[in-house]
Formats: sequence, C-alpha cells, structure tokens
Amino acid sequence: MMRGRFITLEGIDGAGKSSHLHWVARYLRSRGIRVKVTREPGGTPAGERLRRLVLGSRHRLHAETEALLMFAARREHLAKVIVPALEHGVWVVCDRFTDATYAYQSGGSGIAWKKIDALERWVHPGLQPDLTILFDVSPAVGRRRTARKRKLDRFEREQEAYFKRVRSAYLRRARANARRIRVLDAQEGLNQVKKELENILSRFY
Ligand code: TYD
Repeated sequence: MMRGRFITLEGIDGAGKSSHLHWVARYLRSRGIRVKVTREPGGTPAGERLRRLVLGSRHRLHAETEALLMFAARREHLAKVIVPALEHGVWVVCDRFTDATYAYQSGGSGIAWKKIDALERWVHPGLQPDLTILFDVSPAVGRRRTARKRKLDRFEREQEAYFKRVRSAYLRRARANARRIRVLDAQEGLNQVKKELENILSRFY
C-alpha cells in the first residue's frame, strides 16, 4: 500500500491556518484522497488533556515544561494517530507540529534552538512532514484577527514583541527547510489565500 502523506499547517496566532484546515482536507478528499484531520497540541485523549494543561493554565508553566509537554503530546499523537494513518495510506493534515515548538518555545520563549532539536531527534527521528504550509502575517494583523475571539488562550495573550520573535523563528525554519516549508502570504483576503493554497497543493500531490 502507498504510504499517506503528512501535511502540516503553521503560522502565528491569527494567521488564519485553522480556517483553511478544513478547506485543505476537502480539496484533497475531492480528489479521492483519504484524509485524517488532526491538531497539536492534542489529537489524542491524553494530548487534549495536555493541551488544556498548557493552554488553559492560569499560572504560566516554565517554558521548558511547555516544550516537554508539547513533545509528550506529540509522542502519543505519532504513535496512536499519525503513523498508523500514514501506514494505512491515509493522508494526515495536522494543525501545527514541531515547527511550532521551534517558533513558540524557542523563538518566542527563548529556549535554546538545540534543545528543541534534541527533543525532535528523540521523538521523531527520520519523520518529517512531507509538506508544511506556513501562513505568514505580521503580528499586527494576527492580533487584529485574534482580538475578535472572546476567550484567549495562554499564547494569544502574549504581546506583539513575542509574536515578532515567533514569526522570525518560523521564517528561519522555512529558510532552513526550503523544500518542505512553503511560505504563504496570509495577509491577503480569503480568496487570494485559497488561490495560493490551491497552487501549492496542485503542485504537491
Ligand atoms: P492554535 O493552533 O492557534 O489553535 P486555535 O486556533 O484553536 O486557537 O493554538 C495552539 C497554541 O499552542 C498556539 O498559540 C501555539 C501553541 N503551540 C506551542 O506553543 N507550541 C507547540 O509546539 C504547538 C504545537 C502549539
């Protein structure tokens, strides 16, 4: 059986990736591809509990605790959901993955890049997304979009300077992984973004 492909969507809060996640899944399904949509942190019962623990905490966890919990949730997600799906020929479309840990816990919160790198090698040596779409917007635009939400999570409450660092870290990942990570200008309107997405996907599958 052909192995499924692994697609991840990334971007700072308010970049719009979550709104496009289901559109991506529909696009692939309409072409006869079996698709599993999932997210991080989360995607398994334990992962969703870890998500609530990290994102919902009133008291901020130490940044390294956050990074470790992200990778703990990821380990479970890989074992129970991602790898089995790929092995059954199902494509996995995941809202965030390890690039987010580089961007948020290293770029945003200042953990050494090489510590994330060590965790990545531990948790998923030899496995990377086949395609990552990075929804890129300025922190000011991201902020305007999340401001419409009533209940902000732990990261959405951060300041603009934090998201500037998160964005730079994402772009650094994109430069270092230019074949895998496609940067999409998400500053544009929904239709323009869909056109760009279609462009990226049609060249990919
Ligand atoms: P997000 O994906 O924006 O979901 P929603 O659209 O439901 O708000 O929320 C997930 C948050 O988790 C986001 O602020 C980034 C953060 N995060 C990390 O800090 N590190 C990680 O490794 C992952 C996967 C997410």
